[in-house]
Amino acid sequence: MLLLALCQAACRQYSRYSMAYSAKIGPSILSSDLSCLGSECVRMMECGADYLHLDVMDGHFVPNITFGHPMVECLRKSLGQEPFFDMHMMVSRPEQWVKAMAAAGANQYTFHLEATSNPGALIKDIRESGMKVGLAIKPGTTVKELEPWASQIDMALVMTVEPGFGGQKFMEDMMPKVCWLRSQFPSLDIEVDGGVGPDSIHCCAEAGANMIVSGSAVIGSEDPRSVIAHLRSVVSEAIQKRSLDR
Ligand code: DX5
Ligand code: ZN
Repeated sequence: MLLLALCQAACRQYSRYSMAYSAKIGPSILSSDLSCLGSECVRMMECGADYLHLDVMDGHFVPNITFGHPMVECLRKSLGQEPFFDMHMMVSRPEQWVKAMAAAGANQYTFHLEATSNPGALIKDIRESGMKVGLAIKPGTTVKELEPWASQIDMALVMTVEPGFGGQKFMEDMMPKVCWLRSQFPSLDIEVDGGVGPDSIHCCAEAGANMIVSGSAVIGSEDPRSVIAHLRSVVSEAIQKRSLDR
């Protein structure tokens, strides 16, 4: 707790640049009824989602398997151009799917730092393919390992569970990573993913996260619209407060 408080003080003290980022809520459709994926995506957008977080798992980088670019292509065809697809690539050798995901209609390609030996080349390739670049770190990876790439990416994803499954417990001890990133990169999009919902949103927002992935808390709710609106308002208030504190 002390570490988090010190980090929060540092965030306020050292945020030097304009805040270009805003609160965005991206439901993870992993916890939805996968037999109705298209209509579940539509339902989330109608409930106020800012983007869709699509979890790709290969059974190798993580001990679970989901879907790949053919599914993304079908979703894009059925949903049209509007929804922003943030592809969370929990796969080994993320290099191999860049072109296929771009062609399928992905907007952002978020790969894991742990999965590649050449992040620089991959970042370049993603950009040249016309997508935004997201870089994710697992709970055991330090934020210092992400730092060399932070100025080249659009978004940093700090995992708040071990990747692989929805419905896990939020790891509050990841918040110093978020806080440190926010203090060093004031206009970077910072995403949190795993166990995020009404119970954990306050500490994510205070630490400086602005892109919020929420799976079971949104999809499993009887009123996803109000959960999404609540998550967004907590994050927006924290962003506003940080800008007033400067
Ligand atoms: C976990 C996935 C998450 C997951 C989030 O590996 O990356 O996106 O679906 O679901 P909740 O919010 O239920 O933890
Ligand atoms: Zn995810």
